[in-house]
Amino acid sequence: MAKAKPHAVCVPFPAQGHINAMLNLAEALHFMGFHITFVNTDFNHRRILRSRGPASLAGLSDFRFASIPDGLSPSDDDTDKNQDLVALCLSIKRHSAAPLRDLINALDDPSSGGPRVTCVISDAFTSFTLAVTDELAIPNIFFCSVSACGFWGFFYFKELMQRGIIPLKSEEDFTNGFLEAVIDWIPGMPNMRLKDLPKPLQTTNPNDALLNHTKDEAQASLHASAVLFNTFHDLDGPVLNAMSSVLPPVYDIGPVSLLCQHIPDPNFLTSADGGANLWSEDASCIEWLDEKEPGSVLYVNFGSLAVLTSEQLNEFAWGMASSGYHFLWVLRPDIMVGDRAVLPPGFEDETNNRSFVTSWCPQEKVLCHAAVGGFLTHCGWNSTLESIGAGVPMICWPFFGDQQPNCKYICSEWGIGMEIGEEVKREEVEMLIKELMGGQKGKEMRRKVLEWKERAVKAATPGGSSWRNLEKAVEDITMK
Ligand code: UDX
Repeated sequence: MAKAKPHAVCVPFPAQGHINAMLNLAEALHFMGFHITFVNTDFNHRRILRSRGPASLAGLSDFRFASIPDGLSPSDDDTDKNQDLVALCLSIKRHSAAPLRDLINALDDPSSGGPRVTCVISDAFTSFTLAVTDELAIPNIFFCSVSACGFWGFFYFKELMQRGIIPLKSEEDFTNGFLEAVIDWIPGMPNMRLKDLPKPLQTTNPNDALLNHTKDEAQASLHASAVLFNTFHDLDGPVLNAMSSVLPPVYDIGPVSLLCQHIPDPNFLTSADGGANLWSEDASCIEWLDEKEPGSVLYVNFGSLAVLTSEQLNEFAWGMASSGYHFLWVLRPDIMVGDRAVLPPGFEDETNNRSFVTSWCPQEKVLCHAAVGGFLTHCGWNSTLESIGAGVPMICWPFFGDQQPNCKYICSEWGIGMEIGEEVKREEVEMLIKELMGGQKGKEMRRKVLEWKERAVKAATPGGSSWRNLEKAVEDITMK
């Protein structure tokens, strides 16, 4: 009798960047012989169906989609809006384990038509899955879809608290230079200022829900069977080495979006085609880019979770307008605090012939387009890797989570970006755009990012370090 396929149940954290990365990994595992069940929350499952249509989640006989409740009350009307992130984190932790266990039990029933579940691949920030895998005695492999430096910062929240460094003692610590203090004792990550570590530590409240939740989630990785990181050894060697001596077996297997380019027919799914989008995509921006000169357009996108105030929106808008460059600007329907984004009066007239503003775009295609010469980004980890994969240098405006450490690494370690101050000013935006698109520093960063691109592509090609690590991880998982 033929041996049954290994069956991985993939559970992403329910936010766009995490879903995209997990889907890439699931595609790679499917290619390597796994039967896959990909589990979204009911809320996101409905959003993907609405934005992409039923074909997007039809799957294959050995790659199926399923969904479980997130425990929040349904809000069907808010189709364009993210759920409250902190409430979501706390809710899945409390409410999603039982539905996941019921789903796995149902998958294990012979009537399901698939092989028995052999492991769970869980986002490193959905540790509620550990209770289920412990009960069922199957391996739980964590996939860290945030950056390695970001994850390691979250992991060290515990010790920063034990040493009395965080939470901050008073509101004055935000302005008196305290956040500039260098934390030089985190293994593999020297020279990080406190402000370069993940943003949730910037609180004075010892009971802050996000601070405590992210600390606990990162620590939970100690109980995983293995931890996969969406990075490659050349990029993050020192942090990966440090993590290897503390965590369960660590495998660097990224960038997963580049791994997927070597899968013969990825189109049945998503990553090549934006199929996990929570917002409807406007592909017409590609035609607009087609008419532009190589390297002449600045691409501006702050990802899936960042929110702006109207002051910040205005400063960015006028900075871009004064730079004189063409720009493609993506403003999600829920990017503003409170309301839909309204561009400042006069802005559209001023920039009419050199701007394209839309609400969601096929980002990987945009970044790989020859017309794009720079990326003004919030430094989400997927955006960072996609920019490296496309050889595009960055202007960085980190918003929250792991984006502060990502920014520090992009600018100081890898030399492929320049940071905009937290309090964004139009003059600085204009100056940095001019430098990135036409200055000497921009030229140098473009040269470096092309070198990183080459290394990233090599790592994610069959025979490269990330590809081999994934093969090794698969071998180890299927032996357990
Ligand atoms: C957050 C974290 O900051 C990030 O580090 C973590 O890994 C995921 O969650 P997010 O705002 O989702 O970030 O940004 P990012 O990680 O960059 O992911 C956004 C994803 O959406 C990317 O894959 C990007 O290609 C895609 N996207 C974004 C689009 O396809 N179109 C858009 O218009 C915007």
